[in-house]
Amino acid sequence: MQDKQSVLVTGGAGYIGSHIVQLLCEMGHRVTVLDNLSLGREENVDKRASLLVGDILNRDDLRKALSVQPRVIFHFAAWKAAGESMTDPAKYATNNICGTLGLLNAMLEYDIRYFVFSSSAAVYGEPQYTPIDEKHPLHPANYYGYTKLAIEENLQWYSRLKGIRYAALRYFNATGYDIHGRIRGKEKNPANLSPVVMETIAGLRHEMQVFGDDYETPDGTCIRDYIHVSDLAVAHLKAMEYLLENDENLVVNLGTGEGHSVKEVIQTAERVTGKKVNYTITDRRPGDPPALAASNHLAKELLGWQPEYSDLDTIFRTMASVYLDKDSK
Ligand code: WQD
Repeated sequence: MQDKQSVLVTGGAGYIGSHIVQLLCEMGHRVTVLDNLSLGREENVDKRASLLVGDILNRDDLRKALSVQPRVIFHFAAWKAAGESMTDPAKYATNNICGTLGLLNAMLEYDIRYFVFSSSAAVYGEPQYTPIDEKHPLHPANYYGYTKLAIEENLQWYSRLKGIRYAALRYFNATGYDIHGRIRGKEKNPANLSPVVMETIAGLRHEMQVFGDDYETPDGTCIRDYIHVSDLAVAHLKAMEYLLENDENLVVNLGTGEGHSVKEVIQTAERVTGKKVNYTITDRRPGDPPALAASNHLAKELLGWQPEYSDLDTIFRTMASVYLDKDSK
């Protein structure tokens, strides 16, 4: 097992970041979190970490965060709503691309070499085949996916020219909550399927929309590869160990290899919670491919990683413990 490291986690108060922060603290690493709390929640940050409320776009905040001399930086701070990125590209270009380039340039100043990047399956765009492996063509279908690809391409250059070593982890559909129930703050204004289903079950929204049931899939609704955030957290820890042990770059998909339809997701949530989901079928959402699933062989081979919590029952059992808890914010 790796020595204990000093690590910086940008966006570590966010939905995914807070799960990785918790595991890093659990493993005894010294964790600093930089988060502007625009989407993240302070109560989700493990108390063993030190939280700097600040912005990756603010040079002074960046300097403060990097002055702790982390050995590894985990970078989650980004906007992630694919639909919004198509109406407000400037917001995504500024925060995702410029924000990350500012962080990389600051890393050069502070001689920090290791970078674990929260990338996305959105870099692939419309699947030409599925399950999608890392050799699949990269044609993002939305501006959000393009920002993730643009950052990966810059990481290639910064690695080649300046010796940065990075792991780009391409998430499929991140979902679920901490299997031990320690992270309880709900996502703010979610657009993704599973939190929307849970908000509907919890009565936080009257009903939800199912964007089309006329796809060429068994039940007509879209199929996606749902990966539990606790499985993602383990993959990030293993990616850090891989970088420190091998000193070479890594680009892997993080998914289960299995797909589930929107209706399957809704039916599972109803069964697990014993509550009905109010939904109406509406038109398709532009840009939604009928089916997406990851080939995760490379992550299994290089990281020795195996999803353990990503079955739909566990996903909704862990989400219900947060969304049906009247005290959780
Ligand atoms: C899943 C399915 C919707 C909401 C996006 C990003 C991707 C990644 C994951 C970060 C689709 C349907 C959804 C709703 C619905 N993000 N749906 N009603 O679009 O697969 O991927 O999130 O890395 O980059 O693009 O996820 O959860 O939005 O949708 O019917 O209210 O659920 O049509 O078929 P998606 P999603």
